[in-house]
Amino acid sequence: MKPEEDAFGQMIWAYYQGKEVFEIWERNDGYISIDLPKTYLSEYEDWALHQRKAMEFVKGKVLDIGCGAGRHSLYLQKKGFDVLGIDVSPLAVKVCRLRGLKKARVMSIEEVNFKPSSFDSIIMMGNNFSLFGSFKKARRLLKRFHRMTSSNALIVTETRDPYKTNNPAYLEYYEFNKKRGRMSGRLRGRIRFEKYIGKWFDWLMVSKKEMKKILKGTGWKIKEFIDSNDSQYIAIIEKMV
Ligand SMILES: C[S@@+](CC[C@H](N)C(=O)[O-])C[C@H]1O[C@@H](n2cnc3c(N)ncnc32)[C@H](O)[C@@H]1O
Repeated sequence: MKPEEDAFGQMIWAYYQGKEVFEIWERNDGYISIDLPKTYLSEYEDWALHQRKAMEFVKGKVLDIGCGAGRHSLYLQKKGFDVLGIDVSPLAVKVCRLRGLKKARVMSIEEVNFKPSSFDSIIMMGNNFSLFGSFKKARRLLKRFHRMTSSNALIVTETRDPYKTNNPAYLEYYEFNKKRGRMSGRLRGRIRFEKYIGKWFDWLMVSKKEMKKILKGTGWKIKEFIDSNDSQYIAIIEKMV
């Protein structure tokens, strides 16, 4: 990724340096959402209950996909886990290293491919189930993750149920997707920060029913869901024997 395309990393880098910044996400129909990035550097004590509960399932060697500024990796490393954080953003990985993460690599989810039994847990937190991007890509990558994990491995992941909203700007977009034969919660967008503009990418939000459909035939199944008090939820996904 070229430095000028690393809008997310530039935003995290500026925030890490103490600047007041906003995260701007632009959807491909022009809809803009603005958020504060404070969650990315937050500590365990600040996380929502469902996110803290999810950490209780993590075991063994851990791969954190889309680790951002490393909040989950750093928490788990402190607990004694052997954690590798990977992220497509070179600046986010730089921030992870500066914050003390021992193993952090610039790598996209598409490039994730390790030897069999390399990991016991894969975590995809901060709504990172969405990094799967599409139904087809999710299934392809889940099959690959099956090969590179140990026999009792888990995937601990977070997403948002796209249907739990009354926002007309989202409901219209889902209709638009359905007409194009796409999953409703597949959002195409990009991150912008100051003069930096990220590349367009697909972000896939799914309901529990849709997640189960994606997992079918990949060698993974739902162990349990952990609900939050809004549309976000955690899925603990286990390897089938
Ligand atoms: C919503 S943030 C979540 C960050 C972190 N997991 C957290 O909860 O604080 C999404 C992260 O995924 C990374 N990302 C986006 N596309 C990616 C890809 N294709 N492969 C790997 N990481 C990606 C972004 O750079 C960003 O750090």
